[in-house]
Amino acid sequence: MKKRIKVGVLISGTGTNLRALIDASRAVDYPAEIVLVISNKSDAEGIKWATQANIPTKVIKHETFKTREEFDEQLSNELVAFNCELVCLAGFMRILSENFVNKWPNRIINIHPSLLPSFTGREVHTRVIAAGVRISGCTLHYVTPELDSGPIIAQAAVPVLIEDTPKDLAARVLQQEHKIYPLGLAIIASRLAERSGEKTRKYLEKVGEVLINF
Ligand code: GRF
Repeated sequence: MKKRIKVGVLISGTGTNLRALIDASRAVDYPAEIVLVISNKSDAEGIKWATQANIPTKVIKHETFKTREEFDEQLSNELVAFNCELVCLAGFMRILSENFVNKWPNRIINIHPSLLPSFTGREVHTRVIAAGVRISGCTLHYVTPELDSGPIIAQAAVPVLIEDTPKDLAARVLQQEHKIYPLGLAIIASRLAERSGEKTRKYLEKVGEVLINF
């Protein structure tokens, strides 16, 4: 079996994307393994998915640190202690400091519930509906110091229906997040994609037709 990339996942809440990544990584040929899950909230529901899968978990409460930088340093230290090579943000509700991002260059990825660069930030689905947008979706992207703006790795689109509430739309988008996150992580871990300036360069012809349009 090929060496699998060691991944640390950061969460704050429900952790359904974490669950999707854990499920995908159960396949013997999946190119990444989750070696650590960190939550900044002790009551994050998502911790249970890691515990059930025997993945080590850490709770690092941001409010116990004086500064963002000190909190981020602790995060980084834990990730290093577990030999993480890549960091996946999965509903992690903290903005990471420039220091942290620079310590992990091109090695942090995030899933965002809109078609970036539209609708960065929070309360996305409410704003999408209020704007009358007809197509929304999700974006997997590299994390750069500027919020929700790094190179796009993968996107999936979903329709916004007239009668949608933010909750309905969130659920439809989330289904797609659970597909593109494991796929996107797989292509990065297999080195079939890498950051190239402001874009992500892909070498998907190597893996056949299914992923060519991914
Ligand atoms: C997802 O919608 C993700 O796009 C956003 O936070 C939410 C996390 O959901 N960044 P979950 O905790 O993975 O269920």
